[in-house]
Amino acid sequence: MDARELKIAAAKAALEHVEDGMRLGIGTGSTADEFVRLLAEKVAEGFKVQGVPTSERTARLCVELGVPLYSLDDLPELDLTIDGADEVDNALGLIKGGGGALLREKIVASASARMIVIADETKLVDTLGRFPLPIEIAPFGLTATRMAVERLASRLGLTGEIVQRPDKDGPYLTDGGHFILDASFGRIPDAEALANGLVAIPGVVEHGLFLNMADAAIIASQSGARTLL
Ligand code: 5RP
Repeated sequence: MDARELKIAAAKAALEHVEDGMRLGIGTGSTADEFVRLLAEKVAEGFKVQGVPTSERTARLCVELGVPLYSLDDLPELDLTIDGADEVDNALGLIKGGGGALLREKIVASASARMIVIADETKLVDTLGRFPLPIEIAPFGLTATRMAVERLASRLGLTGEIVQRPDKDGPYLTDGGHFILDASFGRIPDAEALANGLVAIPGVVEHGLFLNMADAAIIASQSGARTLL
């Protein structure tokens, strides 16, 4: 199986957890896109689902493929969210936000009774941090916020570059109009301390550490899809 086939295998296994009539949070990224394509096929066959997208990108794909969409204000309590991840550890800790949708992804996952992550085995790590941690920040006070994040990292013994995510014509902007800092820590031994420290910085809107949020991760490899609980 190539990389895309692995994503499809994880998405297919996740689809088995989706029941007729569910209120469903729909994630963002290339793996989540495969899930949307498979879900759309079932919807075309008459399967009923009420989707809440985690990004404008996912919303566009759902509209294009005919997956019925609602806002989180229409459906503030969801049955299940299916989403990808940039990293997954053995305790189901995640790094997310490579696709820039971390804030909406975290809000939608928090509003869901269950969250299932879909990924291929390259996303599995012993310790989170190999993937640069996305930190969504308010544009106002960018430098002060960045310095506060650097001070926190240094207090926690974390080294590595913290760079502002660029886009084609300037800084990357999230769906909420915020900037992203990508922090290449390499290894984050105490993810909880980092998460707590980040939320205490006023300019930090959200961070990509999803701890104690996922209920299961479906990991696709050449030998098939297995579920981490
Ligand atoms: C977007 C995310 C994605 O889930 C994450 O980046 C994984 O994407 P992909 O499935 O393309 O590897 O967190 O904000």
